[in-house]
Amino acid sequence: MELATEIENRYGRSTHVVVADLSQPTAPAIVHAATEKLGLHIDILVNNAGFATYGPFDTIDPDRDHAMVMVNVAAVVDLTHHYLPGMLTKGVGAIINVSSAAAFQAMPYQAVYAASKAFVQSFSEALWAEYRTRGIRIVACCPSATDTEYFQVLGNDDEALMGPKRPPEGVVRDSLRALERNRPHVVIGYPWKLVALVPRAMPRATMARFSERIMRPKRHPGS
Ligand SMILES: NC(=O)c1ccc[n+]([C@@H]2O[C@H](COP(=O)([O-])OP(=O)(O)OC[C@H]3O[C@@H](n4cnc5c(N)ncnc54)[C@H](OP(=O)(O)O)[C@@H]3O)[C@@H](O)[C@H]2O)c1
Repeated sequence: MELATEIENRYGRSTHVVVADLSQPTAPAIVHAATEKLGLHIDILVNNAGFATYGPFDTIDPDRDHAMVMVNVAAVVDLTHHYLPGMLTKGVGAIINVSSAAAFQAMPYQAVYAASKAFVQSFSEALWAEYRTRGIRIVACCPSATDTEYFQVLGNDDEALMGPKRPPEGVVRDSLRALERNRPHVVIGYPWKLVALVPRAMPRATMARFSERIMRPKRHPGS
């Protein structure tokens, strides 16, 4: 609501706020019905909502992991199903799916989160290839550590682990630029553009073991 007011005041654009808990299976349909009722055609869908859990898999609340899969994965698919047909009818549209630098390799202690972002990555690139000649641009944007409330929600703000945080404005700027250039994905910032290439050259087991050492919680028995 605050953000909507800020957008209206600062840029003179009208806004509509639709509140929905995307961990609920019916939420994407409710959001779609609300925009239909308002008579809005959606030109750009930004699947940004998401969160992560951190810790040994057996210690994580299963309901929280389930909710994460619903928000990070199921809602992205469902909202795309709802809004893509309207874009195709018009012959123009764009979808930005917020993935992560975590999408490129298995990530121990964030196993479900990294897997959810690997899904978003694969899903987005597949749709990019399907629709790129039909006027629809689809990009997976892959930020590294960004200065948002993500780390408070995660309950782990260890900069040594996650790297220094970048301002969110850079994520928006680079995502829009990638969309303009009709790229299937964009990794935000150096050295992450290079880091994202490493898993291609390494055996997957080596990469997973390496990642486990980096991500291991400080009080873990293996530390
Ligand atoms: N920050 C990073 O370092 C980083 C790095 C890579 C990728 N990402 C990705 O960037 C995206 C945005 O996260 P952020 O960094 O901006 O974190 P954030 O400040 O915590 O924002 C998360 C957003 O997701 C929404 N959300 C969470 N659960 C939801 C639910 N059940 N239903 C509806 N909306 C829900 C939140 O809405 P409310 O505010 O209403 O709760 C909020 O708008 C996420 O997909 C995240 O995985 C972040």
